[in-house]
This record gives sequence, C-alpha cells and structure tokens, in this order.
Amino acid sequence: MLDKIKETSDFLKAKTSFTPDFGIVLGSGLGGLVNEIDVKYTLDYSSIPNFPVSTVCGHSGKLIFGTLSGKNVVAMQGRFHYYEGYSMQQVTFPMRVMKAIGVKRLLLSNASGGMNPAYRVGDMVIIKDHINLMPHNPLIGKNYDELGPRFPDMSEPYDAEMLLLAKKIADEKGFTAHLGVYAGLSGPCFETPSEYRYLRILGADIVGMSTVPEVIVWRHGGLPCFAISIVTDLGGFEQAQKVSHEEVLQVATAAEGKMTAIIKEMIAKLS
Ligand code: HPA
Repeated sequence: MLDKIKETSDFLKAKTSFTPDFGIVLGSGLGGLVNEIDVKYTLDYSSIPNFPVSTVCGHSGKLIFGTLSGKNVVAMQGRFHYYEGYSMQQVTFPMRVMKAIGVKRLLLSNASGGMNPAYRVGDMVIIKDHINLMPHNPLIGKNYDELGPRFPDMSEPYDAEMLLLAKKIADEKGFTAHLGVYAGLSGPCFETPSEYRYLRILGADIVGMSTVPEVIVWRHGGLPCFAISIVTDLGGFEQAQKVSHEEVLQVATAAEGKMTAIIKEMIAKLS
C-alpha cells in the first residue's frame, strides 16, 4: 500500500510538477466545475499507475490539475463506487494519493435521496455528519501508522469551518441549503419504502451510495473535508415514489450552477 501510494504520487509529481492545495471529487452536481478550472494538466486514470481500472462502459475518468479561484486544485472527474465492484481500498486510493501530492483540503459532492420531510427535490444539503451503513470499512486490515492511527477519531468528520462558510455563502446567494446527516449505503438498489423510513428513524436526512469511504480515509489522514449533496428525489412518505437514474442525473445537472458557485467561492475564501 505505502509503495503504491509513493509510486503513484511520484509519477504525478514528475508529470505535473504542480502542488495542489485543494482536492475536489466532481460527483453529481459538480460536473460543470471543470469548465471553471484553468486546466494545466489532464491525466486519464488509465495512464496513472495503480489507479483502479474502470470496467464500466470502457470509459476512464480523468485527474485534472489547474487553478480555480486563483488556487491550485486537483479534481477527480469520475469517482469509484463500491457497488461497481471495487474494493474499499480501490475506492479510496485517490484520497491517499491526493494527500501524498500535497492536498490539504478535500471537497466532495454527490446526489442523494431525501428523507427529511422539510427537504424538496433540488435542495442542497451541506453534510454535517454521516452514518456508515456500508458493509465494509476502508480501514479494515493492516494499519499503516504513517497514514493515520489505528482507531481514528470521527467526532468531526466534516470540518465545521468549511461547512459554516458554505452555509453563509448559500444564504448570501439565496440558495436553499440545509445542514444534514448522510447515510451511506452500498447500493446499487435505491431504497425500499421501509428502508427510507428506517434511515429516517436512525437520524439520517439523506441517503446515497458514495462519499463515506472517501471521507473516512481522508479523516484517517487527519485533514479537513467538506461534502455537499443535491437532493434528487424523496423517499419515506406515505405514497412510495419511483426513482430513476435519469431523474437523479437530470436534477443533479440542473443544480450545477448553484453547487459550482458555492465551491468556487469557498475555495476563494479558504487557504
Ligand atoms: N438513494 C436514493 N435516492 C438517491 C440516491 C440513493 O442512494 N442517490 C441519489 N438519489
């Protein structure tokens, strides 16, 4: 593991001689952020040693180095999901590499189903905490003390300063943004009506199939992170509602302007 992280980070340093301060995972709702990045280098995942090989549709993601709001960033266009069959170590390998090339803060986005009755489709949720309901934890196995402690603290998984800044920016711009709890499930099924109700009883406001493993590994490394979600559908109500991937993508794309504006301004204000 340590050898692989070193090999990949040495490769990226040699290829780009660029030190990013911010890492961004361009999940649902943030796809359009690439257009705002002043791109210096783009690398296909398939050209990066030890990066997981994409088995889906034969198309590989990209690692993009450049500046955003005047700051050095590295953005992942395409993330790895556990439901695709990757191991948790593969899903989170890019986080280890980002830290090794100098990233200090990680920002992620995702799409989610909303169970909080106050939420509406198209609302943004600044994630303040999560409940890990995935069947595996990326830190299971040998612990490398160089990467973080055996039993990492999770009392502040999402950085309080970053989430309050995001809320302030959203409020100033007149965007609806809640602070909510994200339940991370493996997927790939969307939830049954009873599962939505169960998740609500547990204390979750939204549910999705990503982010939690990435945040766990990033926090293992002791650095601050931030995640924002777009509510693409609702569940847990009297009348069960159908959810489709198309609908999720459509709502997420419609929210890109708002999500992008928040992230751009956060990066401008953070050091
Ligand atoms: N569950 C329900 N709805 C969703 C999800 C999910 O994981 N992701 C996006 N919308």
